[in-house]
Amino acid sequence: MPHDTHVTWHEHSVTREERERLNGHGGCVIWFTGLSACGKSTVANLVDHKLHARGLRSFVLDGDNVRHGLNAGPGMLKERHGEEFAKRFGLGFSAQDREENIRRIGAVAKLFAEAGVIALTAFISPYRRDRDAVRASLKPGEFIEIFVDAPIAICEARDPKGLYKKARAGELKGFTGIDDPYEAPQKAELVLDAGSKDAETLADEVLAHLEHAGIIR
Ligand code: ADX
Repeated sequence: MPHDTHVTWHEHSVTREERERLNGHGGCVIWFTGLSACGKSTVANLVDHKLHARGLRSFVLDGDNVRHGLNAGPGMLKERHGEEFAKRFGLGFSAQDREENIRRIGAVAKLFAEAGVIALTAFISPYRRDRDAVRASLKPGEFIEIFVDAPIAICEARDPKGLYKKARAGELKGFTGIDDPYEAPQKAELVLDAGSKDAETLADEVLAHLEHAGIIR
């Protein structure tokens, strides 16, 4: 693996095992993927709430929130850091920007897992290759991919931010599912039928899966 010069890896003085013993459970990444408005964030937050109520350490990384900070867009960065900086580091929705969005989130989620936390991520993450790269960065069993499967007609009817409407009107280009691709998972650990079941039922299905897989007790 190529290394950037003068950058070395530091071992933690507290081991992962010691952290996990303290928490009473292992760290992992539960990766929700699906169209905009399919219910990823709602289900992830419900699962988070249920895990927390059981005394487990969990945290949700959410697309819209992370795109306000770590992965802010050029518009947000421009004001404070100037045009050139914003152009270089701001993330939009091109295939390459989405790739970098997911790469950064994957790296952050991995750090959470190493800290012994159950990291829940809610990003469209439309490209199979980008999701698989995060999977490959973790140990087998530590990446749980959950496809929040809702037909586009239902997501579009919900349209909580009015973005589908804008995309249909041609005011928003490259919107996932309209004029940008979404590659559904082929080997997800769990598929949620978000078109016909409510979020509470889906969250319980996730908990049942985590128990069945021995991730939580
Ligand atoms: S991802 O494709 O890079 O994984 P992410 O989950 O971070 O996307 O952000 C998706 C959210 O950004 C959507 O829920 C929507 O609110 C907003 N958004 C703005 N423009 C787009 C677009 N072109 N495609 C999809 N979502 C968009």
